[in-house]
Amino acid sequence: MLGVGVIGCGAISKMHIDSFLRIPQTKIRAVADVNEAAARRTANELGADSYTDYRELLKRTDIDVVSICTPSGLHSESAIAAAKAGKHVIVEKPLDVTLPKIDAMIEACEQNHVKLNCIFNNRYREGNLFLKRAIDAGRFGRLINANALIRWYREPDYYAKSPWHGSWALDGGGALMNQSIHYVDLLLWLAGRVESLSAYTGTLLHKCMETEDTAVATLRFQNGALGAIIATTSTFPGYPAEIQITGERGSANVRDGVIEHWKFVDSDPLDQEAEAFFGGGEVDNARASTPMAFACEYHARQIRRAVESIEDDTEPDIGGAEARKSVELILGIYESAKTGARVTF
Ligand SMILES: NC(=O)c1ccc[n+]([C@@H]2O[C@H](COP(=O)([O-])OP(=O)(O)OC[C@H]3O[C@@H](n4cnc5c(N)ncnc54)[C@H](O)[C@@H]3O)[C@@H](O)[C@H]2O)c1
Repeated sequence: MLGVGVIGCGAISKMHIDSFLRIPQTKIRAVADVNEAAARRTANELGADSYTDYRELLKRTDIDVVSICTPSGLHSESAIAAAKAGKHVIVEKPLDVTLPKIDAMIEACEQNHVKLNCIFNNRYREGNLFLKRAIDAGRFGRLINANALIRWYREPDYYAKSPWHGSWALDGGGALMNQSIHYVDLLLWLAGRVESLSAYTGTLLHKCMETEDTAVATLRFQNGALGAIIATTSTFPGYPAEIQITGERGSANVRDGVIEHWKFVDSDPLDQEAEAFFGGGEVDNARASTPMAFACEYHARQIRRAVESIEDDTEPDIGGAEARKSVELILGIYESAKTGARVTF
């Protein structure tokens, strides 16, 4: 039985808790939150112990793995402490909000021989998995164009009510670093590394936030393909986010994990399999404007895989080096927007 500790008992912790509850070989033994009421409430629901200082939780010898669900700019602090205490780490996206903090976190996990898993639940959605299979099978041929279009909406009081959202210190950015990072991660996973980019960002609607609510970047991938990222939390009422891939032998669009277009010059048995996940224009729009309006299933899939990688001592699906890439790209977008210069990686 793997003992689990949950650090941070806010909105996303529920997805982690529900995921662990589906895995019979895990048991949540303790939770921690600086907000004592939140820690107590969560612990009581689970019959677990609660702490206001996560370091107390880390002293326990019956905890093997921690899920870190604190604001993003605090992730590395508790992840490094957990690694030093010999606990495996599952951490919410992004790993943290600066590369030095991320690198320290990766190093601490390596040195202490614990697994580091970063949650990117959208990778486990069927449409995105089909895109990945098609790319890996060479269905698209040489890639020509890869875009991520995230025109989401947050109510104005989203930032006012939860001040860590949209702050540089704790969110590390805005529409890009918090929300659109899911699609930045998908784009890099599907189309590969970016060689250079140039970008603009702006705070155009949500005047109470420090960071951007709108960003536009043009990309040149290492494989020669060109691409774009349009990322907002300022588009009323919010639309399903979309990934668009074009290659010399075909093109496909996936909106909110559902296949909208799937057209290839050459047919393949994969096409029949993919058809079961064609959207037909009916896409659930809730996620575009309501922060927690998404199913637990994709967290559950990744956390199940994370537990397997701990049990089997195999590489996690999305480890430190893999999860670092989206933060590096987003920081490059911020740099280009600030300096007006093209950023080369
Ligand atoms: N994968 C996804 O789709 C998804 C969705 C939402 C949030 N997230 C990520 O999850 C993380 C948390 O977001 P959230 O929406 O749950 O935020 P939240 O504000 O709802 O919850 C954060 C919790 O952490 C607690 N906390 C703050 N500092 C702490 C500390 N030092 N020790 C222990 N607890 C502390 C807060 O009291 C709060 O209860 C962020 O990194 C965010 O990017 C991911």
